[in-house]
This record gives sequence, structure tokens and C-alpha cells, in this order.
Amino acid sequence: MTSPAGVAAPPSPPALDALSGLLRDAVLLAERGTATPADIDTAMRLGAGHPTGPFTLLAGMTADQQRGLGLPGQQLPETPAPDELPAADTGWTGPVGVVGTGHMAGGIVETVARNGRPVRVLARTTASGDGLRARVTASLDRAVSRGRLDEAGRADVLARVRVTTEPAALAGSDVVVEAVAEDLHVKVLVAQQLDAQLPASTPLATNTSSFRVADLRPFVSRARPVIALHFFNPAQVMKLVEVVVPDDVDDGAALRATASAWAADLGKTPISCADARGFVVNRLLIPFLNDAVRLHEQGHAVAEVDDLLRTGAGHPMGPLALIDLIGVDVTVAALESMAAVEDDPRISPAATLRELAATGRLGRKTGAGFHTYS
Ligand code: 3HC
Repeated sequence: MTSPAGVAAPPSPPALDALSGLLRDAVLLAERGTATPADIDTAMRLGAGHPTGPFTLLAGMTADQQRGLGLPGQQLPETPAPDELPAADTGWTGPVGVVGTGHMAGGIVETVARNGRPVRVLARTTASGDGLRARVTASLDRAVSRGRLDEAGRADVLARVRVTTEPAALAGSDVVVEAVAEDLHVKVLVAQQLDAQLPASTPLATNTSSFRVADLRPFVSRARPVIALHFFNPAQVMKLVEVVVPDDVDDGAALRATASAWAADLGKTPISCADARGFVVNRLLIPFLNDAVRLHEQGHAVAEVDDLLRTGAGHPMGPLALIDLIGVDVTVAALESMAAVEDDPRISPAATLRELAATGRLGRKTGAGFHTYS
């Protein structure tokens, strides 16, 4: 899907049709002020690997083509200049706390430790902490075998990762990022536990897929900044971090600059977005994945749907394979959370997603979802 000049080719008509809901949602998010069109484009390129952001796609279309997708036709929001890059900021150069031992937590831990910072990982149990360490080690082993890291570097990275079951051991972290289960009750309990044990100046960042910072805010003492730092799966690889600093944070602009500079220092591209469910990428991507499940339900084979977007729109993975990577359970939870506040039947989880979730076919992590994995 990339021309010799390196410019992504436009999607095929059926792929564009499959993307139409995402394009309409992108316009909606820009109108709501969730993020600028330029940041929305960056988010979809770096957070989901799309070759072209939605506004660049729309800009290449005629008014008739846009109207065919249910858009008003060339009445797109203005694309203001991208936000200025964060000023050099040395605010967060020290240890980072990460809470959780799942796939996302492992990817964040590896990213931070490979970029030279000590990481304290809060695990629920010693066994789950061991599991995280084993996954990070396996990923580093792969980097060594590919010649991307030497043995000494691998040992240095692992030495920076300390796993604990004591929340107080995260004191002294520049920021603590929670990446626990996508269940608000669990996240609230974790936030309360950290709030009771850490100095009030330590910011708490959520990596939530679908809740808002505002959903956690009431459970954390007023003096503590609560923000979101949202990484993308696989976090070691994907270049985007969504930075969400709600208006109620004291000196929010400075904190946003510090968090953005930190993300940039980790080799990521930060974008700033409003505290809305799904932020930018998940609000656009997850309903689009749901659309793809419905396409499958209309009689198109799994491979056919995946191929439509891979070869037809140049996406790095087909949407159903991507659901398997994200997790069917996480996808359903994100849809339900967004559907709770948005009256749009597109966002209600497709029946097949619920069936897969009910039978434990959650994707790669269980060995089967839309596809099967060895
Ligand atoms: N875990 C860890 N590392 C992985 C990986 C995985 N699942 N898959 C690939 N990698 C690494 C590889 O090891 C490789 O690095 P190396 O060569 O240094 O070892 C590097 O990624 C590139 O791998 P490949 O050449 O095999 O991979 P591809 O070119 O096929 O790219 C991909 C793999 C980066 C996963 C690409 O398919 C992609 O961009 N997919 C889209 C992923 C996406 O959309 N993520 C966002 C999901 S939404 C989300 O996370 C939000 C959450 O809140 C739900």
C-alpha cells in the first residue's frame, strides 16, 4: 500500500467503506475538541500503525466521496498547527513506578528500563511478579538474539527492574503508572492503596483503555495529581503515548510538559488529548474493530476481513487479528464503557465478541480468539 515515493496509496473502495465509521468519528472528536486534527492523525499513525491519519485521508477525497461516507463534504475542522514540541524538561529522570504484571505493564516496564530509568513494579503476588520478570527477560533475549542489545545491556536493563508487593516501595518514583485490569473497581482499589502509601506529590497516571481520569479522581486525595499516560500494545514497539492532564490539575501545563518530555525521552511521541472515554486512539479504533466484527458476521471469513484492511488500506494487522492482540475481553470492556455514555449502536459490542468472551477465547493470551495461536 505504499507507492515508490513512500506515500501511502488511498484505500480501496471496500476498505474505505469499512473505515467510514472511523472517519466520521475522527471529525466528531475534532469537533468535540478531544484533540487537534493533526494530533488525531499522529495518534492513528503511531498508536495503531495506520499508514495515513483520518484527516489526511479525508483531505485527499472529493466532496462527493465524503458525502458518500455520511460526512457533510469538505466541511472539515480546520487543522491548526501541531502543538509545539515540549520544551526540554528534566523533570522526570529518575525511578518510575509501574503497577500490574500483565502484557501492557510488561511492555511499559521494558520501555522505561531500556531507556535507562530504574523501575519499581508493584505486583499482587510474588508469582505474578516473577511472571512479569520472565516476560521482560524473554523479550530482552529476543532483542539480544536479533543483535539489538548485547549481553551486558540485557543485564543492565534487568538490574533496573525491581519487583515488589509493597506499595510503599514505589515511594521516590517520579510518576507511578497503573496498568492493572481494565475494571474500574480494581483500578479504584489500586489508586486508594497507592494514595495511602505514597507522598502526595507523586503523580498517579492511569494507562486505562476506556475510563477517564475523572473516574479515578474522586478516590485520590486532592493534593495528588492524577493524569493518564496511555501506551499502546505492544508498548515496547508502538511509538505513541497519549498524555491526558485534566483541567483540575494544579499547574497542569507544566505537568503536561514534564510528562510529554518524559515520553519523548523514552523514544515515544506524546500527543495531548482531553479526558474523554477512549481518549483518541481507542475511541476511533475500538468501534472500528467492532464494525469489522459485524462485517465478519455478515458472512465474510475472518481472513477476508483482515485482508481487506491489510492489503486494501495498508494496515499493519487485520482488525480481527488486532482484537486478538488487544484481547477480546479488553475490547468488550472498552466498547461497553464507551457505549455507556454514547448513544450509538455502532459502539455496542458485536454478538461474536460476547460469544468469544463467554467461551474464554480472548485472543493471543489464551491461544485462540478469531485466530488460533500456537
Ligand atoms: N510483543 C512484543 N514485541 C513485538 C510484538 C509483540 N506482540 N510483535 C512484534 N514485536 C516486535 C518484534 O519483536 C520486532 O522487534 P525486533 O525485530 O526488535 O525483535 C518489532 O516488534 C517488529 O516486529 P515484526 O517485524 O515482526 O512486526 P511487524 O512489522 O509485523 O509489526 C506490530 C508488528 C508493531 C505489532 C504491527 O503489526 C502493528 O503496528 N500492529 C498494530 C498494533 C496496534 O494497533 N496496537 C494498538 C492497539 S490499541 C491499544 O494498545 C490500546 C489499549 O488501551 C487497548
